[in-house]
Amino acid sequence: MAAALDAPPHAVLRLAAAEDLPGILAIERVSFATPWTEKMFAEELKNEWSNVWVTEVGEPRRIVAFTVFWVAYDEIHVLNVAVAPEERRRGHGRLILRSIVAFGEHRRMSHVVLEVRPSNEGAQRLYQSLDFRPVGVRPRYYQDNGEDAILMVRMLKR
Ligand SMILES: CC(C)(COP(=O)(O)OP(=O)(O)OC[C@H]1O[C@@H](n2cnc3c(N)ncnc32)[C@H](O)[C@@H]1OP(=O)(O)O)[C@@H](O)C(=O)NCCC(=O)NCCS
Repeated sequence: MAAALDAPPHAVLRLAAAEDLPGILAIERVSFATPWTEKMFAEELKNEWSNVWVTEVGEPRRIVAFTVFWVAYDEIHVLNVAVAPEERRRGHGRLILRSIVAFGEHRRMSHVVLEVRPSNEGAQRLYQSLDFRPVGVRPRYYQDNGEDAILMVRMLKR
């Protein structure tokens, strides 16, 4: 995987490996109220249906964003995506989501699905700009505050 699709300059998106866990965890912990643990990410690296990608910039390279998504038959389910706070609004989120869409279309998959908090307007705006559409609500989905999740779907071109 190389940088493409209007990527931020010098950004490289690649598959993650075990040695990337500290960089992923550092972003996860400052991005979410109930962050995933190291064990959870390590499990995702092992699952054959799971994909973990990281975005790197700079020299020496540093991880500035990551995503975790599952491939289940013809559906992609994005479980996690986050960008380091100091790197936000530079197109890293867009690069990751566009690359997931390209990955799914290349494999002739049907759609991409994800959950987002109603309070997370920035993320919703990002997804909407990439043609994700709200299709339903998962009541009390988030355990920390009982917030509902908006379910969003992006149909893929076959
Ligand atoms: C949501 C998140 C992944 C977006 O990543 P990002 O790299 O900052 O997003 P991008 O720079 O690619 O933004 C692309 C577009 O999305 C929209 N957008 C992204 N963040 C936004 C924000 N905070 N407010 C308003 N619009 C936003 C804008 O339209 C933006 O385009 P613009 O900068 O040209 O106006 C990032 O803010 C983040 O990691 N947040 C914490 C974790 C999180 O909420 N993850 C998503 C869980 S569902």
